[in-house]
Amino acid sequence: MSEHSMDDLQTSRKMEELLELIERNLHCFFCKTEPKNLYEPIKYLLDGKGKRIRPLLTLISTGLLNGDINKAIKPAIALELLHNFTLVHDDIMDNSDLRRNRETIHKKWNTSIGILSGDLLLAIAFQNIIADVGLDYCKEVLLTYTDSLIEVCEGQGYDLDFEERQDVSINEYFLMIEKKTAKLIENSMVIGGFIAKANLDDIRILGAIGKSLGFAFQLQDDLLDLTAVNPKFGKPVGKDLIEGKKTYIMLKAKELFNNQEEIDLLNDFFNNHGLKPEQVPVMIDYLEKNGIFDITKDTINSYFVNIQEHLNKFEENIYKKILNHLIQTLFNREF
Ligand code: IPE
Ligand code: IPE
Ligand code: MG
Ligand code: MG
Ligand code: MG
Repeated sequence: MSEHSMDDLQTSRKMEELLELIERNLHCFFCKTEPKNLYEPIKYLLDGKGKRIRPLLTLISTGLLNGDINKAIKPAIALELLHNFTLVHDDIMDNSDLRRNRETIHKKWNTSIGILSGDLLLAIAFQNIIADVGLDYCKEVLLTYTDSLIEVCEGQGYDLDFEERQDVSINEYFLMIEKKTAKLIENSMVIGGFIAKANLDDIRILGAIGKSLGFAFQLQDDLLDLTAVNPKFGKPVGKDLIEGKKTYIMLKAKELFNNQEEIDLLNDFFNNHGLKPEQVPVMIDYLEKNGIFDITKDTINSYFVNIQEHLNKFEENIYKKILNHLIQTLFNREF
Protein backbone atom coordinates (compact mmCIF):
# COMPACT_ATOMS: atom_id res chain seq x y z
CA MET A 1 0.00 0.00 0.00
CA SER A 2 1.33 3.48 -0.85
CA GLU A 3 2.14 5.97 1.89
CA HIS A 4 -0.64 8.19 0.60
CA SER A 5 -3.39 5.57 0.84
CA MET A 6 -2.11 4.42 4.28
CA ASP A 7 -2.58 8.01 5.38
CA ASP A 8 -6.10 8.13 3.91
CA LEU A 9 -7.03 4.92 5.66
CA GLN A 10 -5.75 6.19 8.99
CA THR A 11 -7.69 9.44 8.57
CA SER A 12 -10.99 7.75 7.75
CA ARG A 13 -10.50 5.32 10.67
CA LYS A 14 -9.93 8.24 13.00
CA MET A 15 -13.12 9.89 11.73
CA GLU A 16 -15.04 6.65 12.35
CA GLU A 17 -13.69 6.67 15.91
CA LEU A 18 -15.00 10.19 16.45
CA LEU A 19 -18.39 9.13 15.06
CA GLU A 20 -18.48 6.17 17.45
CA LEU A 21 -17.63 8.50 20.32
CA ILE A 22 -20.56 10.71 19.34
CA GLU A 23 -23.02 7.79 19.04
CA ARG A 24 -21.96 6.40 22.43
CA ASN A 25 -22.42 9.73 24.16
CA LEU A 26 -25.61 10.78 22.39
CA HIS A 27 -27.78 8.38 24.35
CA CYS A 28 -26.16 9.09 27.73
CA PHE A 29 -28.19 12.28 27.85
CA PHE A 30 -31.38 10.32 28.21
CA CYS A 31 -31.49 8.15 31.28
CA LYS A 32 -35.14 9.04 31.92
CA THR A 33 -37.89 7.06 30.21
CA GLU A 34 -41.08 8.64 31.63
CA PRO A 35 -43.34 10.02 30.32
CA LYS A 36 -43.01 7.51 27.51
CA ASN A 37 -44.92 9.65 25.02
CA LEU A 38 -41.99 12.13 25.07
CA TYR A 39 -38.91 9.97 25.67
CA GLU A 40 -39.86 7.28 23.13
CA PRO A 41 -40.06 9.69 20.17
CA ILE A 42 -36.77 11.29 21.22
CA LYS A 43 -35.05 7.92 21.42
CA TYR A 44 -36.59 6.97 18.06
CA LEU A 45 -35.28 10.18 16.48
CA LEU A 46 -31.76 9.75 17.86
CA ASP A 47 -31.70 6.11 16.72
CA GLY A 48 -32.18 7.33 13.12
CA LYS A 49 -29.04 7.51 11.02
CA GLY A 50 -28.05 11.17 11.06
CA LYS A 51 -24.73 12.27 9.59
CA ARG A 52 -23.70 13.95 12.90
CA ILE A 53 -21.72 16.59 11.08
CA ARG A 54 -22.19 19.35 13.64
CA PRO A 55 -20.73 17.43 16.63
CA LEU A 56 -18.00 16.07 14.36
CA LEU A 57 -17.06 19.62 13.39
CA THR A 58 -16.90 20.67 17.05
CA LEU A 59 -14.61 17.80 18.04
CA ILE A 60 -12.42 18.27 14.97
CA SER A 61 -12.15 22.03 15.55
CA THR A 62 -11.02 21.52 19.14
CA GLY A 63 -8.44 18.98 18.00
CA LEU A 64 -7.32 21.15 15.08
CA LEU A 65 -6.41 23.92 17.51
CA ASN A 66 -4.64 21.48 19.86
CA GLY A 67 -7.36 21.41 22.53
CA ASP A 68 -8.55 18.40 24.53
CA ILE A 69 -11.39 16.82 22.55
CA ASN A 70 -12.75 15.14 25.70
CA LYS A 71 -13.77 18.59 26.89
CA ALA A 72 -15.67 19.10 23.64
CA ILE A 73 -17.82 15.96 23.79
CA LYS A 74 -20.82 17.25 25.75
CA PRO A 75 -21.02 20.60 23.94
CA ALA A 76 -20.75 18.66 20.65
CA ILE A 77 -23.62 16.40 21.68
CA ALA A 78 -25.65 19.43 22.79
CA LEU A 79 -25.22 20.85 19.27
CA GLU A 80 -26.50 17.61 17.75
CA LEU A 81 -29.50 17.73 20.09
CA LEU A 82 -30.19 21.33 19.13
CA HIS A 83 -30.04 20.29 15.47
CA ASN A 84 -32.45 17.38 16.11
CA PHE A 85 -34.84 19.75 17.84
CA THR A 86 -34.84 21.96 14.72
CA LEU A 87 -35.57 18.90 12.55
CA VAL A 88 -38.63 17.83 14.56
CA HIS A 89 -40.18 21.28 14.37
CA ASP A 90 -39.06 21.78 10.75
CA ASP A 91 -40.90 18.61 9.73
CA ILE A 92 -44.11 19.94 11.25
CA MET A 93 -43.66 23.26 9.42
CA ASP A 94 -42.76 21.59 6.11
CA ASN A 95 -45.47 18.87 6.29
CA SER A 96 -42.74 16.25 5.92
CA ASP A 97 -43.69 12.63 6.55
CA LEU A 98 -40.24 11.11 6.10
CA ARG A 99 -36.87 11.86 7.73
CA ARG A 100 -33.78 9.61 7.83
CA ASN A 101 -35.91 7.11 5.91
CA ARG A 102 -38.39 6.80 8.75
CA GLU A 103 -41.71 8.36 9.57
CA THR A 104 -41.35 11.80 11.17
CA ILE A 105 -42.36 12.21 14.82
CA HIS A 106 -45.51 14.24 14.17
CA LYS A 107 -46.61 11.63 11.59
CA LYS A 108 -45.85 8.55 13.70
CA TRP A 109 -47.28 10.15 16.87
CA ASN A 110 -48.96 13.56 16.40
CA THR A 111 -48.20 17.30 16.17
CA SER A 112 -48.50 17.93 19.91
CA ILE A 113 -45.94 15.19 20.60
CA GLY A 114 -43.68 16.69 17.90
CA ILE A 115 -43.83 20.14 19.49
CA LEU A 116 -43.33 18.93 23.04
CA SER A 117 -40.61 16.34 22.42
CA GLY A 118 -38.77 18.97 20.35
CA ASP A 119 -38.98 21.43 23.24
CA LEU A 120 -37.74 18.78 25.65
CA LEU A 121 -34.77 17.93 23.41
CA LEU A 122 -33.80 21.59 23.38
CA ALA A 123 -34.13 21.93 27.16
CA ILE A 124 -31.99 18.84 27.78
CA ALA A 125 -29.40 20.16 25.35
CA PHE A 126 -29.19 23.40 27.35
CA GLN A 127 -29.07 21.59 30.68
CA ASN A 128 -26.11 19.53 29.55
CA ILE A 129 -24.16 22.27 27.90
CA ILE A 130 -24.50 24.42 31.04
CA ALA A 131 -23.51 21.57 33.33
CA ASP A 132 -20.39 20.61 31.46
CA VAL A 133 -18.81 23.66 29.89
CA GLY A 134 -15.55 24.76 31.59
CA LEU A 135 -15.90 28.01 33.54
CA ASP A 136 -13.10 29.76 31.67
CA TYR A 137 -14.94 29.66 28.34
CA CYS A 138 -18.53 29.07 29.54
CA LYS A 139 -19.88 32.50 28.60
CA GLU A 140 -18.58 32.43 25.01
CA VAL A 141 -19.87 28.93 24.41
CA LEU A 142 -23.31 29.63 25.85
CA LEU A 143 -23.68 32.91 23.98
CA THR A 144 -22.61 31.27 20.71
CA TYR A 145 -24.93 28.33 21.34
CA THR A 146 -27.90 30.60 22.07
CA ASP A 147 -27.05 32.77 19.08
CA SER A 148 -27.36 29.64 16.86
CA LEU A 149 -30.84 28.98 18.18
CA ILE A 150 -31.99 32.55 17.58
CA GLU A 151 -30.57 32.49 14.05
CA VAL A 152 -32.26 29.16 13.19
CA CYS A 153 -35.62 30.50 14.37
CA GLU A 154 -35.20 33.70 12.32
CA GLY A 155 -34.08 31.73 9.26
CA GLN A 156 -37.04 29.37 9.56
CA GLY A 157 -39.27 32.45 9.85
CA TYR A 158 -37.93 33.77 6.53
CA ASP A 159 -38.25 30.32 4.96
CA LEU A 160 -41.97 30.21 5.85
CA ASP A 161 -42.54 33.81 4.80
CA PHE A 162 -40.89 33.16 1.41
CA GLU A 163 -43.31 30.28 0.70
CA GLU A 164 -46.03 32.93 0.39
CA ARG A 165 -43.96 35.47 -1.55
CA GLN A 166 -43.32 35.64 -5.30
CA ASP A 167 -40.61 38.32 -5.34
CA VAL A 168 -37.88 36.70 -3.22
CA SER A 169 -34.39 37.75 -4.38
CA ILE A 170 -31.26 35.60 -4.46
CA ASN A 171 -29.76 37.83 -1.74
CA GLU A 172 -32.77 37.17 0.47
CA TYR A 173 -32.38 33.43 -0.15
CA PHE A 174 -28.75 33.59 1.02
CA LEU A 175 -29.71 35.56 4.14
CA MET A 176 -32.36 32.93 4.90
CA ILE A 177 -29.99 29.95 4.56
CA GLU A 178 -27.24 31.75 6.43
CA LYS A 179 -29.59 31.91 9.39
CA LYS A 180 -31.45 28.61 9.17
CA THR A 181 -28.42 26.40 8.34
CA ALA A 182 -25.03 28.08 7.99
CA LYS A 183 -24.95 29.70 11.42
CA LEU A 184 -25.30 26.45 13.37
CA ILE A 185 -22.56 24.81 11.30
CA GLU A 186 -20.35 27.89 11.70
CA ASN A 187 -20.98 27.98 15.46
CA SER A 188 -20.31 24.25 15.84
CA MET A 189 -16.76 25.01 14.70
CA VAL A 190 -16.44 28.24 16.66
CA ILE A 191 -17.48 26.48 19.89
CA GLY A 192 -14.79 23.85 19.21
CA GLY A 193 -12.30 26.72 18.97
CA PHE A 194 -13.42 28.27 22.27
CA ILE A 195 -13.03 24.92 24.02
CA ALA A 196 -9.46 24.70 22.67
CA LYS A 197 -8.92 28.23 24.08
CA ALA A 198 -7.73 29.29 20.66
CA ASN A 199 -6.91 32.88 19.77
CA LEU A 200 -9.58 35.03 18.14
CA ASP A 201 -7.87 35.05 14.74
CA ASP A 202 -8.00 31.25 14.57
CA ILE A 203 -11.60 31.23 15.78
CA ARG A 204 -12.48 33.70 13.02
CA ILE A 205 -10.94 31.38 10.41
CA LEU A 206 -12.86 28.42 11.84
CA GLY A 207 -16.04 30.48 11.63
CA ALA A 208 -15.35 31.41 8.01
CA ILE A 209 -14.83 27.75 7.09
CA GLY A 210 -18.02 26.74 8.91
CA LYS A 211 -20.06 29.48 7.27
CA SER A 212 -18.96 28.53 3.75
CA LEU A 213 -19.56 24.88 4.55
CA GLY A 214 -23.03 25.79 5.83
CA PHE A 215 -23.97 27.68 2.66
CA ALA A 216 -22.72 24.83 0.50
CA PHE A 217 -24.53 22.30 2.69
CA GLN A 218 -27.96 23.94 2.31
CA LEU A 219 -27.44 24.48 -1.46
CA GLN A 220 -26.65 20.76 -1.70
CA ASP A 221 -29.69 19.87 0.39
CA ASP A 222 -31.88 21.93 -1.96
CA LEU A 223 -30.25 20.24 -4.97
CA LEU A 224 -30.60 16.75 -3.49
CA ASP A 225 -34.26 17.48 -2.78
CA LEU A 226 -34.67 17.38 -6.59
CA THR A 227 -31.95 14.99 -7.69
CA ALA A 228 -31.24 12.44 -4.92
CA VAL A 229 -30.99 8.84 -6.12
CA ASN A 230 -29.33 7.38 -3.03
CA PRO A 231 -32.03 6.09 -0.63
CA LYS A 232 -29.81 7.21 2.28
CA PHE A 233 -31.01 10.77 1.56
CA GLY A 234 -34.06 9.55 3.47
CA LYS A 235 -36.43 12.33 2.37
CA PRO A 236 -38.93 12.32 -0.54
CA VAL A 237 -37.72 13.90 -3.80
CA GLY A 238 -39.51 17.06 -4.97
CA LYS A 239 -40.96 18.04 -1.59
CA ASP A 240 -39.59 21.61 -1.79
CA LEU A 241 -41.42 22.13 -5.12
CA ILE A 242 -44.71 21.04 -3.58
CA GLU A 243 -44.19 23.25 -0.52
CA GLY A 244 -43.32 26.27 -2.70
CA LYS A 245 -39.82 26.68 -1.22
CA LYS A 246 -37.95 29.58 -2.82
CA THR A 247 -34.63 27.83 -3.27
CA TYR A 248 -31.64 29.12 -5.25
CA ILE A 249 -32.61 26.61 -7.92
CA MET A 250 -36.08 28.07 -8.42
CA LEU A 251 -34.82 31.66 -8.27
CA LYS A 252 -32.25 30.81 -10.99
CA ALA A 253 -35.03 29.18 -13.02
CA LYS A 254 -36.92 32.46 -12.85
CA GLU A 255 -33.88 34.22 -14.32
CA LEU A 256 -33.17 31.66 -17.04
CA PHE A 257 -36.31 29.90 -18.30
CA ASN A 258 -37.35 31.36 -21.66
CA ASN A 259 -39.57 28.82 -23.39
CA GLN A 260 -43.31 29.53 -22.91
CA GLU A 261 -44.22 26.06 -21.56
CA GLU A 262 -41.43 26.30 -19.00
CA ILE A 263 -42.46 29.81 -17.97
CA ASP A 264 -46.10 28.67 -17.56
CA LEU A 265 -45.08 25.89 -15.17
CA LEU A 266 -42.79 28.27 -13.30
CA ASN A 267 -45.69 30.73 -12.94
CA ASP A 268 -47.79 27.90 -11.51
CA PHE A 269 -45.07 27.33 -8.91
CA PHE A 270 -44.78 31.02 -7.97
CA ASN A 271 -48.50 31.92 -8.14
CA ASN A 272 -49.88 28.85 -6.35
CA HIS A 273 -47.28 28.57 -3.54
CA GLY A 274 -45.93 25.35 -5.05
CA LEU A 275 -46.67 22.61 -7.58
CA LYS A 276 -48.98 19.61 -7.60
CA PRO A 277 -47.13 16.27 -7.18
CA GLU A 278 -47.79 15.32 -10.84
CA GLN A 279 -46.06 18.53 -12.04
CA VAL A 280 -42.82 17.74 -10.17
CA PRO A 281 -41.13 15.43 -12.75
CA VAL A 282 -41.83 17.92 -15.55
CA MET A 283 -40.27 20.76 -13.57
CA ILE A 284 -37.22 18.62 -12.75
CA ASP A 285 -36.84 17.92 -16.47
CA TYR A 286 -37.00 21.65 -17.33
CA LEU A 287 -34.49 22.52 -14.60
CA GLU A 288 -32.07 19.90 -15.89
CA LYS A 289 -32.47 21.03 -19.53
CA ASN A 290 -31.76 24.63 -18.62
CA GLY A 291 -28.53 23.69 -16.82
CA ILE A 292 -29.82 24.95 -13.46
CA PHE A 293 -28.46 21.92 -11.59
CA ASP A 294 -25.01 22.48 -13.11
CA ILE A 295 -25.09 26.18 -12.19
CA THR A 296 -25.97 25.20 -8.62
CA LYS A 297 -23.10 22.70 -8.53
CA ASP A 298 -20.71 25.44 -9.71
CA THR A 299 -21.91 27.74 -6.93
CA ILE A 300 -21.39 24.94 -4.40
CA ASN A 301 -17.86 24.37 -5.72
CA SER A 302 -16.96 28.03 -5.31
CA TYR A 303 -17.48 27.55 -1.55
CA PHE A 304 -15.15 24.56 -1.68
CA VAL A 305 -12.36 26.71 -3.14
CA ASN A 306 -12.95 29.34 -0.47
CA ILE A 307 -12.74 26.73 2.30
CA GLN A 308 -9.46 25.32 0.98
CA GLU A 309 -7.90 28.81 1.09
CA HIS A 310 -8.88 29.22 4.75
CA LEU A 311 -7.73 25.72 5.66
CA ASN A 312 -4.23 26.47 4.37
CA LYS A 313 -3.81 28.90 7.26
CA PHE A 314 -3.78 26.07 9.83
CA GLU A 315 -0.81 23.89 10.71
CA GLU A 316 -0.87 20.22 9.78
CA ASN A 317 -2.13 17.74 12.35
CA ILE A 318 -4.35 14.65 12.28
CA TYR A 319 -7.49 16.75 12.89
CA LYS A 320 -6.71 18.92 9.89
CA LYS A 321 -6.54 15.73 7.84
CA ILE A 322 -9.87 14.58 9.27
CA LEU A 323 -11.43 17.97 8.54
CA ASN A 324 -10.17 17.81 4.96
CA HIS A 325 -11.55 14.28 4.63
CA LEU A 326 -14.95 15.32 6.07
CA ILE A 327 -15.13 18.33 3.75
CA GLN A 328 -14.30 16.14 0.71
CA THR A 329 -16.98 13.66 1.79
CA LEU A 330 -19.55 16.41 2.25
CA PHE A 331 -18.86 18.00 -1.11
CA ASN A 332 -19.26 14.63 -2.82
CA ARG A 333 -22.30 13.69 -0.78
CA GLU A 334 -25.33 11.97 -2.27
CA PHE A 335 -27.38 12.13 0.95
C1 IPE B 1 -30.81 18.51 7.53
O1 IPE B 1 -29.56 18.40 8.12
C2 IPE B 1 -31.27 19.91 7.64
C3 IPE B 1 -30.48 20.85 6.86
C4 IPE B 1 -29.83 21.82 7.41
C5 IPE B 1 -30.42 20.73 5.43
P1 IPE B 1 -28.64 17.12 7.96
O2 IPE B 1 -28.55 16.75 6.51
O3 IPE B 1 -27.38 17.38 8.68
O4 IPE B 1 -29.51 16.01 8.71
P2 IPE B 1 -29.06 14.65 9.41
O5 IPE B 1 -28.80 14.99 10.84
O6 IPE B 1 -27.85 14.11 8.71
O7 IPE B 1 -30.25 13.75 9.27
C1 IPE C 1 -33.35 22.88 7.00
O1 IPE C 1 -34.10 23.21 5.93
C2 IPE C 1 -33.36 23.95 8.01
C3 IPE C 1 -33.53 23.50 9.40
C4 IPE C 1 -33.32 24.33 10.33
C5 IPE C 1 -33.96 22.17 9.79
P1 IPE C 1 -34.92 22.08 5.17
O2 IPE C 1 -36.37 22.18 5.50
O3 IPE C 1 -34.52 22.11 3.74
O4 IPE C 1 -34.35 20.72 5.82
P2 IPE C 1 -34.84 19.28 5.40
O5 IPE C 1 -34.66 19.16 3.91
O6 IPE C 1 -36.28 19.16 5.82
O7 IPE C 1 -33.92 18.36 6.15
MG1 MG D 1 -37.63 23.62 6.25
MG1 MG E 1 -37.75 20.54 5.87
MG1 MG F 1 -34.31 20.41 2.47
